Amino acid sequence: MPEITFRRGAPSDAAVLAEINIESWRVAFRGLFSDDTLSRMSMTEQTARFDRILSEQPEVEVWVAVQGTGAVGYGTIGPERAVESAAGMCELRALYLRPVIWRRGVGRRLHDQLLDRMAKTQFDNAMLWVFEINARARAFYEALGWAPTGETDEIRLGDELQVIRRYERSLT
Ligand SMILES: CC(C)(COP(=O)(O)OP(=O)(O)OC[C@H]1O[C@@H](n2cnc3c(N)ncnc32)[C@H](O)[C@@H]1OP(=O)(O)O)[C@@H](O)C(=O)NCCC(=O)NCCS
Repeated sequence: MPEITFRRGAPSDAAVLAEINIESWRVAFRGLFSDDTLSRMSMTEQTARFDRILSEQPEVEVWVAVQGTGAVGYGTIGPERAVESAAGMCELRALYLRPVIWRRGVGRRLHDQLLDRMAKTQFDNAMLWVFEINARARAFYEALGWAPTGETDEIRLGDELQVIRRYERSLT
C-alpha cells in the first residue's frame, strides 16, 4: 500500500472531505440507517458544512490522511461542543476513511495523530459520541483505549431517531 501521510485540512479540501464523508456513511450505515437518510446526503450541503468548519472555526483542527496525492480520510478535533467553557474535554468529533482502505491500520494511525494533537491542548481528557449501532467504530475505539461512560443521547436524522453513546479516555 502506498505511504499514508497526514496534513492539516484547508478550505480547499471542503469538497473532497464531503465526498469521503458521504462515501463512508453510505457504506458504514447501509442497512442501519434508512435508505432515505443515506440517499438524501448532499454534496452541496456537506461541502458547505466543511467549508464553514475549515474557514470559520479556528478552534477546530481537521487532519487529512493522504495516499499518494489523494485524500483518503479525515479526522476532526476541537473543544467539547456541548460545553461552553474550558471546563469540558477535548472532543474527537469525526474520523472517516474511504471504505476501500478500512482495516489496514490507517484509522489507528490517523487516530494516533489526532490523539497527539489533543494531548497538546489544555485538556486532560477526551470524549466522543458514536452511534450505538456503529459496531465497527465502537470496536475500533475500544481497541484504541476508549471506554463507554454509560451516557447516551439521541440524534434525529430525517425521520429517524438514533442513539449515540459517549466514550472517554485520558490524554495524559
Ligand atoms: C472506524 C474506522 C475509522 C476504523 O479505521 P480502520 O482503518 O478501518 O481501522 P484499523 O485498521 O486502524 O483498526 C484498528 C483496530 O480497530 C479494531 N477494528 C477496526 N475495524 C474493526 C472491525 N470491523 N471489527 C472489529 N474490530 C475492528 C481492531 O482492533 C483493529 O486492530 P486489528 O486490525 O489489528 O485487529 C473506519 O472503519 C471508518 O472510517 N468507518 C466508517 C466511519 C465511522 O464509523 N467513523 C466513526 C464515526 S464516530
